[in-house]
Amino acid sequence: MNVRLIVNGRTINVEVTTPLSLLQVLREELGLLGTKDACEQGECGSCSILLNGDLVCSCLVMAADADDLEVTTVEGIGTDGNLHPLQRAFVEHGAVQCGFCTPGFIVAGVHLLDQNPVPTSGEIREALSGNLCRCTGYGGIERAIQSLVEGT
Ligand code: FES
Ligand code: FES
Repeated sequence: MNVRLIVNGRTINVEVTTPLSLLQVLREELGLLGTKDACEQGECGSCSILLNGDLVCSCLVMAADADDLEVTTVEGIGTDGNLHPLQRAFVEHGAVQCGFCTPGFIVAGVHLLDQNPVPTSGEIREALSGNLCRCTGYGGIERAIQSLVEGT
């Protein structure tokens, strides 16, 4: 089956011959390695992307079901030399240690701020509740998001 994806603003056609998840297509077919592969069960949030603007775990979406949909990965949010303000805030607030979870938190954080530019602390925690980090203790991550809230 030919699947047409609009990935980070670019239309891409992918021939999918076996049942692949969107995560597998992004990483293995398109080389977008910012979207991380960990639990593959919707438990960790490391594979978070935006699908037509909704925050989803790409490991739980079959690529065929994303036909004709818009996909935003962390590569579509910021790049080397042109970081998104939330990515800069993560660096400034010590929200990154090993970095494995960071792309998922960035996607979830950007989604939150798009939906709710002035979230409370409780709303930030709720919005990030689907993302796991084994390193930071979450304080730096919450402070990074809060810094953009306070800046608005
Ligand atoms: S890899 Fe998708 S939620 Fe963990
Ligand atoms: S920074 Fe290592 S898992 Fe979050």
